[in-house]
Amino acid sequence: MDYSLSTSSFTTLLSFPILFLVLAITLFSFIQSHKNVKQYPLPPGPRPWPIVGCLPAMLRNKPAYRWIHNLMKEMNSEIACIRLGNIHVIPVTCPNIACEFLKAQDDVFSSRPQTISSYLASNGYLSAVLSPFGDQWKKMKLVLATHVLSPRRHQWLHKKRVEEADNLVRLVYKQCQESNQEGMVNLRFTSQHYCANVIKKLMFNKRYFGVGMENGGPGFEDEQYVDALFTILNHLFSFCVSDFLSFLTWLDLDGHEEVMREKDRIIRKYHDPIIDDRIQQWKDGKKKDIEDLLDVLITLNDDNGNPLLSRDEIRAQVEVRKVVLAENGLRFISFSTGKRGCMAVTLGSAMTNMLFARLLQGFSWSLPSNEPSIDLSTAGDSMALAKPLLAAAKPRLPAHLYPE
Ligand code: HEM
Repeated sequence: MDYSLSTSSFTTLLSFPILFLVLAITLFSFIQSHKNVKQYPLPPGPRPWPIVGCLPAMLRNKPAYRWIHNLMKEMNSEIACIRLGNIHVIPVTCPNIACEFLKAQDDVFSSRPQTISSYLASNGYLSAVLSPFGDQWKKMKLVLATHVLSPRRHQWLHKKRVEEADNLVRLVYKQCQESNQEGMVNLRFTSQHYCANVIKKLMFNKRYFGVGMENGGPGFEDEQYVDALFTILNHLFSFCVSDFLSFLTWLDLDGHEEVMREKDRIIRKYHDPIIDDRIQQWKDGKKKDIEDLLDVLITLNDDNGNPLLSRDEIRAQVEVRKVVLAENGLRFISFSTGKRGCMAVTLGSAMTNMLFARLLQGFSWSLPSNEPSIDLSTAGDSMALAKPLLAAAKPRLPAHLYPE
């Protein structure tokens, strides 16, 4: 699927009578659903319209995830089938049934859907995370398992992770001392930047793309970068009409394509010069020591001694990570499980544990004086809290133990 061709698909669309298109789609869906395969009953779900399926109801009831949850509650079912366009979407709310899909039947379900946002975020499905099942996925998975996420590499990167955990504590400590802030900490901002800082340090051996703040916090460039990262994450697998009715792609009805392209441009603005410069340094022989994961990726060779990864594959690999947290039974923090489960459970857990451990070891936390309780209501368009969590931090260790 080439999403860069949306203007030309528009021209093509206009050159055919719309009626023909509608008939062709109907016929295609009919043939698809009557292929010579044994038919098993589908899980329960709302009655779909011809062609569009349940898309109209879904569009009327945004956010989609809440509509689906309510529907399943009404049907009193932990599994459902919702037809969107001619695709059957099967939501599951029970961890045991989820394991059936992700572990017991993972051969059947080990591909990933082709969506506009995953296409753009993975540089055309070059990375391991979002790619459909196939040779590219296998290649990138092997590279990650052997060279990036191996236990030996994890150990090698220990010092860099500690540096960023120290920086996190330093930042919160400074915020406690800044008299105008009264120790008030925006925990969403702090944890998002901590995660991004760890990844930047492991990948590029640097904390800031711009000039950081004096208190250890991010400057304009890094705020812009982290905002772009998390906007992209929020759009991955989020509901987008044209993912189900591809002839509407050129209209970009949900505006996802525009957002994704804009944020991807920002990410590239910061990544590309560093990647290009580093590739050149290795080519010119100016760089000799492997100091971070970018060096690791650049210096990998195939059996003939040629670079194993192209520039675009390196760029795709240096990419966004999910921060949606369940354990192996999928009941709590989720790294998912089975063939497509997270490859970086050790790194992801180290980052999450270190974040909690350092914040709890270094500080006592209380609610802001004007907030009697934590508002747990979720945002309209995602499952994140509607308002970032604010809390007052108070140092609880002797002053000399806080990093300078
Ligand atoms: C707290 C941090 C993290 C969480 C909660 C997390 C969670 C997940 C989840 C839920 C998936 C499954 C996605 C799907 O079903 O398509 C996944 C896949 C993946 N994750 Fe993570 N992840 C985290 C950090 C990381 C990091 C730091 C890396 C690498 C540096 C990473 C590498 C991957 C890869 C390569 C896959 C794709 C595996 C495949 O499709 O074969 N993750 N992660």
